[in-house]
Amino acid sequence: MAAGSGRRFGSQQPKQFCDLGGRPVLMTTVDMMRRALADASAEILLVLSDGFVDYWAGLCARHGFDSPRIVVGGDTRWQSVRNALDLIPSGKSPVFVHDGARPLVDDSVVRRLLSALSSGAHGALPVMPVTDSLRQRLADGTSIAVDRSAYCAVQTPQLFSADILKQAYEMPYSPLMTDDASVVEMCGYDDIALVEGSESTLKITRKADLDTVACMLGCHHKS
Ligand code: CTP
Ligand code: MG
Repeated sequence: MAAGSGRRFGSQQPKQFCDLGGRPVLMTTVDMMRRALADASAEILLVLSDGFVDYWAGLCARHGFDSPRIVVGGDTRWQSVRNALDLIPSGKSPVFVHDGARPLVDDSVVRRLLSALSSGAHGALPVMPVTDSLRQRLADGTSIAVDRSAYCAVQTPQLFSADILKQAYEMPYSPLMTDDASVVEMCGYDDIALVEGSESTLKITRKADLDTVACMLGCHHKS
């Protein structure tokens, strides 16, 4: 998924095209996803916004990068995923949905997800413990401390079978659908397996995240 505009990141071009070790972030995401899947029959669909399709083609030509098939996304992540699902055939095939803004894909997370799905779960997600303290804002403007251990932070890739994901994305959009598991859950599928995520699967949201990812990748990026 790489059709976002990166409002919070706030650079001239969306964050997925920013430099990470000499090439756009998105090329690392695609390469790491290809490596983690390591399955010749796996196909990757790359979802871009309409205005960046030609730009991406130019980047691929310049870097000699073999692009996955392109799908044009929409105004929300939900719409972008939906557009990609239109190209995915019905059936029981596993479908990973991954944020282009998370370039560092961890092979062991992918293995854990596949194993959870093959054990019969409706979906599988990587999660991390929350490290900050958490507070809930109340309607009257006050707030209360909540039990941090009852919550976890959700990462991608998230894994579902094609049929379940396609069915869930037939439902009307709600702003609570911030990831794919929330969509599947609202469709009535409640057996969502949580697997251990990875510290490296950080999502680039703000500028400092790109620095962190570059450090993790062991390279320097041009600012
Ligand atoms: N995404 C997408 N289509 C959208 C919105 C988001 O494909 N209409 C993708 C982004 O490109 C990103 C992933 O979904 O890889 C996670 O979204 P997020 O981190 O929120 O990225 P942006 O929406 O681009 O950033 P912001 O919310 O700060 O504008
Ligand atoms: Mg967003």
